[in-house]
Amino acid sequence: MTRVLSCIQPTGDVHLGNYLGALRNWTLGQHDADAFHGIVDLHSLTAIEAPGIIGENTIKLAATLFATGLDPDVATVFVQSHIFEHSQLCWVMECTVSFGELSRMVQFKDKSAKREGEFIPAGLFTYPALQAADIVLYDADEVPVGDDQRQHVEITRDIAVRFNHRFGETFVIPKAVTPRAGARVMDLQEPTSKMSKSSAGDAGLVYLYEDPAAIVKKFKRAVTDSESEVRYDREAKPGISNLLDILSACTGDSAETLADKYSQYGPLKSDTGEAVVEMLRPIQARYAELIADKAELANLLRQGAAKARVVASATLERAYNAIGFLPA
Ligand code: TRP
Repeated sequence: MTRVLSCIQPTGDVHLGNYLGALRNWTLGQHDADAFHGIVDLHSLTAIEAPGIIGENTIKLAATLFATGLDPDVATVFVQSHIFEHSQLCWVMECTVSFGELSRMVQFKDKSAKREGEFIPAGLFTYPALQAADIVLYDADEVPVGDDQRQHVEITRDIAVRFNHRFGETFVIPKAVTPRAGARVMDLQEPTSKMSKSSAGDAGLVYLYEDPAAIVKKFKRAVTDSESEVRYDREAKPGISNLLDILSACTGDSAETLADKYSQYGPLKSDTGEAVVEMLRPIQARYAELIADKAELANLLRQGAAKARVVASATLERAYNAIGFLPA
């Protein structure tokens, strides 16, 4: 069975764009492959410095993954820092990648440019080595990623090939795959930009755990246009098309079919708001249960860690043996 690895950083609250664009597909895909899902808390240390925050975000994200339907008996859900092999293999990866290769990473260039004059952790530079360790540790065949992460999977392949060449066949060579298409959810106030935490305000953002009344209100206030025709046209009518796409993601009907059912903006806005609330209702209920029972969550994560560790420790051992470190 194909082994598929997806990872997500525990940074802040999950919104509708994250859910419809990615997380929902993790749940839908968990039976099609041997799915490993990591909450990569070590990676988020490149962005978060204050104590306690990463752990808090991690437990919330874990609750979200289970609440949205990942089944701990089917998928392996683990926290990166619980598996020490990630940081151990990271060093090996750092010694198998060159300074020049890391210097060409677009994400590093962007992120370090944004922080010019501020503290830029060396971890931001070596980040792809840690990501490479995440991937090869689990013998992942496929890594579903968006365009922004393709370069990191490419460098992982280069590192794995180089290692195998130097030390003998050790790692599975992974490939980047395009994730099963999720809905592209745009900001409700600025429907030409993706819904994202970096938006100006949060009127255009719908969080997964927002109060239903607040969600309905945000949809009622969604930006549309001055015409009054309901028609699916991403270019000319981004606001209306975004609502149709969201409603389509909730109901399963196509956006075009839905467009035919409406002649006015008002009912489309309120129906979309209601549909989102209904879709989120069971997720919100399950999340509330899980987050109130931290012991159970810890249990589920221990179960995931145990499964992940079996694979990770075997890979690390293979790598150490291939290198020929003196056995302890
Ligand atoms: N760098 C990825 C991101 O920012 C997260 C990530 C870390 C990842 N390790 C990974 C993704 C391994 C896929 C596989 O989105």
